[in-house]
Amino acid sequence: MKRALDTNEVTLSIAVFGLGYVGCVTAACFAELGYRVIGVDIDARKVRAVQDGQAPFYEPGLEALIQSNLRNGRLSATTSTADALRDADFAFLCVGTPSASNGNLNLDPLRRVTADIACHLSGRARPLTVVVRSTVFPGTCDEVVAPLSEHAPAMALVANPEFLREGSAVKDFMQPSLVVVGSHDPLAAQRVASLYASLPVEISVVALRTAELIKYACNGFHALKIAFANEIGTIATALGLEGDEVMRTVCHDTKLNISPAYLRPGFAFGGSCLPKDLRALNYRARQLDVELPLLNSVLPSNEAHIARAFRRVLETGSRKLGIYGLAFKPNTDDLRESPGVALIERLIGKGCDVRIYDPHIQLESIYGSNQTFLLSSLPHIGRCMEKSLEAVLDWAEVIVITQEMTSLARETISRYALPVIDVTRSSEGGLVAKMAGCELRVPHN
Ligand SMILES: NC(=O)c1ccc[n+]([C@@H]2O[C@H](COP(=O)([O-])OP(=O)(O)OC[C@H]3O[C@@H](n4cnc5c(N)ncnc54)[C@H](O)[C@@H]3O)[C@@H](O)[C@H]2O)c1
Repeated sequence: MKRALDTNEVTLSIAVFGLGYVGCVTAACFAELGYRVIGVDIDARKVRAVQDGQAPFYEPGLEALIQSNLRNGRLSATTSTADALRDADFAFLCVGTPSASNGNLNLDPLRRVTADIACHLSGRARPLTVVVRSTVFPGTCDEVVAPLSEHAPAMALVANPEFLREGSAVKDFMQPSLVVVGSHDPLAAQRVASLYASLPVEISVVALRTAELIKYACNGFHALKIAFANEIGTIATALGLEGDEVMRTVCHDTKLNISPAYLRPGFAFGGSCLPKDLRALNYRARQLDVELPLLNSVLPSNEAHIARAFRRVLETGSRKLGIYGLAFKPNTDDLRESPGVALIERLIGKGCDVRIYDPHIQLESIYGSNQTFLLSSLPHIGRCMEKSLEAVLDWAEVIVITQEMTSLARETISRYALPVIDVTRSSEGGLVAKMAGCELRVPHN
């Protein structure tokens, strides 16, 4: 393993609060990377175990790292917050955040460790970067940990959630799948990112609350993947098929299945396949007496997304709406189960007047099931459709975008300076900046 530090450099000092699964691995691995690390825990048994060269719990490779770094003097452990903070440049908070009985996070350990640290900060001149590694909901760092700065103005706050898996935690730290660093203070974010500079990973630097949410997005996604594979496995078994073979083959597709495809927040899905095939899958599962709660909840989730877009448009208060996009996605004239059509149907039902432009829709060329769907949803479509975007923009008070725009459409719309509700986007993307050997993703705002 490449050492993070040059022997001529001053060795940075890290205090790790909490010597549980996350904290103990973090402490031993940072020591292995060349930093001076002191682990702190209120549980004297865990501290003694580390002092005696033992891992406080079973984790492959951890005990060997603890022993070698105790021997070379880079790792130590204490129950004393004062001792831990004395020389620390960084304080990593790795305390537990267990579930409260109502499902909320129990933040008592985080509050206690923050209060402990606060008691030892008054009068401190040495800068301290406090890094929250525990899993906490967006806003927690600001609400619970940031008040520490009242005791030490030279304190900076960073969120750096942990992604390790028990059982392969040391390997996951040394060869991370993801390192996320979030802060209001770009220099503090860079200081923490630099601690990982020797690891083979592109570090993602984002806003503080974004970092907090990314951890939940990852765990939510992992849980969703497991539940999905289990539901497919269950229906496969009910049909006398091999679920393993089905999912292995699904994973062969790295273009649409195991890829970033479909993973950008945007508007609802539609078209002639996804809604129809989900309905058929759920119908057959019911016939087979197989419960598929996850797959059953996908269409209601999509409906809820259309309802959110509907409310967002109504909240503008305007009833003269110009709509860009009618087909279910760009570059097609397929209108079947288009979420744009569903949205417009609701808006007309609420008394809104609409004018619609879609670069690929010529009403006179629509026929068959496409035409039947359109006329059953929007019988007066002929009166609403415009042949040019400009005609829509000249008339409308608000523009609603239901489909990814062409660059020409984007330019034309921006020239009109009308209020725009773009239901295909929940946010703008980020900028990319470079930093000493690692690529950093810098938040847009
Ligand atoms: N375990 C995992 O696989 C994993 C992975 C990623 C993230 N996380 C998150 O990391 C956090 C820690 O998880 P964990 O599994 O290591 O928890 P843990 O319960 O194993 O360890 C927490 C440690 O913090 C100590 N502690 C509590 N208050 C303290 C204080 N005031 N000062 C010093 N030490 C104190 C406890 O004694 C305990 O040893 C949680 O938010 C968890 O959700 C866990």
